[in-house]
Amino acid sequence: MDIEGKTIVITGAARGLGAAIAKLSASRGANVVVADISQTDGEAVAQHIQQAGGRATFKYCDVTIEEQCVALMDYAVDWFGSLDVLVNNAGIHEAMVSSQFSFEEMTTETFDRVLNVNLRGPYICARAALKYLKKSTRNPSIINAGSTASFVGYPFGLAYGVSKGGIALLTKNLAVALAPYGIRSNSYCPASTETEMVASVSERIGAMHLAPEAMSQLAPLGAHLVRRIGDTADIAELVCFLAGDRASFINGALILIDGGTLAWRETVDAMGMK
Ligand SMILES: NC(=O)c1ccc[n+]([C@@H]2O[C@H](COP(=O)([O-])OP(=O)(O)OC[C@H]3O[C@@H](n4cnc5c(N)ncnc54)[C@H](O)[C@@H]3O)[C@@H](O)[C@H]2O)c1
Repeated sequence: MDIEGKTIVITGAARGLGAAIAKLSASRGANVVVADISQTDGEAVAQHIQQAGGRATFKYCDVTIEEQCVALMDYAVDWFGSLDVLVNNAGIHEAMVSSQFSFEEMTTETFDRVLNVNLRGPYICARAALKYLKKSTRNPSIINAGSTASFVGYPFGLAYGVSKGGIALLTKNLAVALAPYGIRSNSYCPASTETEMVASVSERIGAMHLAPEAMSQLAPLGAHLVRRIGDTADIAELVCFLAGDRASFINGALILIDGGTLAWRETVDAMGMK
């Protein structure tokens, strides 16, 4: 595969989408640095990859702390000898941080925290990775976690929506800024995908008792035309493609992977499930 031998740093890779991206890219021969604030889960992901015959290592990194982001990129290069792809995947939603997450109730501290992780974190990591990405001869790129919320207003999380809107323009501006170095920048933009983030946010909005198929019809941004919520493997496939050489003409792109959610305007009961 064309990501074989590339070194990929993935933030927020201890679980959910990040863990799926780590496992799939390692299975295709990439050298994977699993970065997260969750040490136990992160080490477990790296061990799982190693036991399956892949190359992975865990590095603790809080993406809100610049020195830790710099140390993460240094670590990747010390460990594997290069840094070719940065996946800015770590993210949080205000409903995971506070029970007060409506616009009226949310504190400024909560707003800042979401923006710090979801938008400032990718900016800091991109800066920290740059000196190594510049040296890469393996079609280097930065791949950012966007969302359907990168495109339209998001009723259940203003800070989250603002952060993902910011990711859209961070992605495009990085593509412009890094074009002289041959470094691409793209964003994967999923609709609801089965992870702990979605479980925890759904719990807060009272939808936890619903089956996943019904969840797909109540997804806050509208019904999925594909009658299910996303699987982490769906998203990992896209990220691995973007990390590979066959994506070398894709740059500054925000790629929806949303089961058709944003293909239309209807937002409730798309498939007559009421
Ligand atoms: N799951 C979805 O439906 C969905 C949809 C659109 C976008 N996304 C985005 O995809 C990314 C991954 O989402 P997920 O659903 O897997 O989330 P998740 O909550 O299941 O996993 C997120 C991971 O990020 C880590 N993390 C949190 N704060 C961190 C920090 N400060 N530094 C380093 N790591 C940190 C967590 O420990 C966790 O391991 C996020 O950016 C999210 O916004 C997810």
